[in-house]
Amino acid sequence: MKTIYLDSIPSTNTYLKDHYNDYQHFDCLVTKNQTSGKGRLNNHWFSTENDLTFSILIKEDLSPSTIQLMPFYTAYIIHKVISSMNINALIKWPNDILIDDLKLSGILVESIYQDKLKALIIGVGINVNNQMFPKEIENRAISLKQACHEEIDIIQLLNDVLKEFEHGYPFYQSNQKNVIDYVNEFLAYKNQEIQYEDNQTIESGQCLNVNDSGQLLIKTKNDIIPLISGVVKKIKKVN
Ligand code: BTN
Repeated sequence: MKTIYLDSIPSTNTYLKDHYNDYQHFDCLVTKNQTSGKGRLNNHWFSTENDLTFSILIKEDLSPSTIQLMPFYTAYIIHKVISSMNINALIKWPNDILIDDLKLSGILVESIYQDKLKALIIGVGINVNNQMFPKEIENRAISLKQACHEEIDIIQLLNDVLKEFEHGYPFYQSNQKNVIDYVNEFLAYKNQEIQYEDNQTIESGQCLNVNDSGQLLIKTKNDIIPLISGVVKKIKKVN
């Protein structure tokens, strides 16, 4: 696993997508200054030089379920590393890491297909030492420093994540069930009322668990439905 540092680029994911031929399987691209970070569902990912933004390149044949569940594997790795720092975090389906219901980390997995899978790009953003977020997200985001009141060594954190990622990868390839079990153990909003989008309408139901295909099961009035993509939100009780 080689780590490549670039001073400033629009997006580590986009860069690796454009240059994946120049890099090897498991190479990791990091930048201190990501100027146009991408999030899921066309969102923007905000970061500063005090945060960690990187992408890992996967360039090998993978089974369909290994590809499909890669965001969960990545969330599992990030969660494990954060937990080893004695920080209580949860995994919000499909792959956000939350502390006190605020977003610490986001994951964006992108794929390149040309007849078959050519590459997977696993992009990770972690709010590390940042203390100020833009107005639009200040009530939804948190950094590690805000959570544990200590400056974090960003490179050490990256190395810890990469080490765990590489170490766990063969186990993940042979058995994805353990990862889903782990995600369910630390699943945010478990058994709580959530809102979700279904066919462009906002619905509500009880968040149950993630099934082996990575779908979130939601109990509605009459049914249990699997959510394939989208965003879920906890319904806040008004006193
Ligand atoms: C999300 O929560 O919506 C996913 C955020 C993913 C952000 C990371 S930062 C590194 C990599 N490069 C990008 O442009 N996005 C991902």
